[in-house]
Amino acid sequence: MNYKVIILIFLTFSCAKVELEHEHKITFKDVKPILERSCLSCHNTTGKASQLPLTRFEHYQANAKNIYKWVKNKKMPPFDPESDGFKFINKEYLQGSEREQLLEFLGSPKLGDTDEVLEVPKENIDEITGDKYSFNFGKGITIPPRGFLYRCYFFKIPERAKGKFLTQLQIKGENKKYIHHNIYHVTSVDSKDELNRYFHPGAGCILPDQNPIIGTGNNTGFFIQDDVNLVVQVHFDRTMDESTKTIIFDKDFELVLGVQEEVETIAYNSVIHVPHPEVVIPYGKTTTTTVTNSVKDILEKSKIGRILQAKNNSKVRLKAFLFHMHLYGKAAELVWEISAEDPKEKRTHKQLLRENNFDSRHQYFGILETPVNLDVNDFLRISCDYDNSAENPRTIFFNPEKKTITGGFSSSSEMCSTYLVFELPYSEFKK
Ligand code: HEC
Repeated sequence: MNYKVIILIFLTFSCAKVELEHEHKITFKDVKPILERSCLSCHNTTGKASQLPLTRFEHYQANAKNIYKWVKNKKMPPFDPESDGFKFINKEYLQGSEREQLLEFLGSPKLGDTDEVLEVPKENIDEITGDKYSFNFGKGITIPPRGFLYRCYFFKIPERAKGKFLTQLQIKGENKKYIHHNIYHVTSVDSKDELNRYFHPGAGCILPDQNPIIGTGNNTGFFIQDDVNLVVQVHFDRTMDESTKTIIFDKDFELVLGVQEEVETIAYNSVIHVPHPEVVIPYGKTTTTTVTNSVKDILEKSKIGRILQAKNNSKVRLKAFLFHMHLYGKAAELVWEISAEDPKEKRTHKQLLRENNFDSRHQYFGILETPVNLDVNDFLRISCDYDNSAENPRTIFFNPEKKTITGGFSSSSEMCSTYLVFELPYSEFKK
């Protein structure tokens, strides 16, 4: 046997392979579309993550190691769904091999045959269709350095919008980056004075009827009943802001509503939550809470859901859902338990969504590409994992007294809720 020949052949072969890989090296040019879609909605100069703009090649070059780490451990982009084959249309997550492509690029950033600049996506939600209603709020709000603040604002829905459909909800303004999140509630609360009665320092307000809705876009909307108004619960946050000065907003925010007279699909909502007394997280421990609700009961909690029930609709379409926990939340899961024809038989389980990297600073409705048809005899189960140990950096910062954390509404308590959005063709609603 001539070993030299074999070694030579092997060497030639491996050189060719190296060259081939080199040719296919992923560059900025290749990952541009992924970055524009999945990062730039927040990492632009005015967005939620404006402290770290990622709009130019040099931003990746200068910070490659750190960005690599965040992408690798699946902390960024912040939505990282795991499910039994259900697809989401959210822009904030990576599909298929996109994460590997990004990591290869970040390993040693090369520009490739393209220019340095990324294009910030123009959010298509910007354009209001139908009637536009605009309200101002927020001027004078004062937030100390590294502080956060909860407020609720009351907006009287004008008579001419009643009986129509709310399709879009937007907040605009220079100081938007200080809004961590907001929850829009449709409520029977009728005035600012009445809202003041429900003031709560840790949550802004606790309404008698918690009824959160989302902007769903064109041709899908929430029916505006005669007796409702809007309360927006805003969480202002400066815990990530480096500045040491107190900020006083000298300009208002603008709340814009899009209202359509007709829609193809009506949206309605409900919520499931683990009863607060069941949430107990001793210091130093991780725990899980879980609750299973029948679809029937979930619909009972929603006014329109009750109307549908009365019409004997046996199927409902689940379109979107959002997990809500506070500082100790680590992971959350929503499981669909499908009932067998024979109620004595076992239910089959499908995981709709599991978020392993839950981070209370980033909360999204996961929006399904195709709504799921639930039967009113089916069940939905939610589970939340919490961590009140020093492994959770939030514990060190927010629980220095090493307390047991219990369930409740305020930000220093914990909760396990899932907001659900259902859809229904308008033709069925009219029947
Ligand atoms: C929905 C908004 C959003 C999207 C989309 C998003 N980020 Fe972020 N990102 C944030 C926010 C807010 C922070 C700061 C808060 C935090 O640390 O979690 C952050 C933090 C980071 C950090 C850490 C900065 C530090 O503290 O060192 C990196 C790196 C990062 N993002 C990269 C990315 C990349 C890369 C993408 C796209 C693949 C992306 N992000 C997508 C909102 C977003």
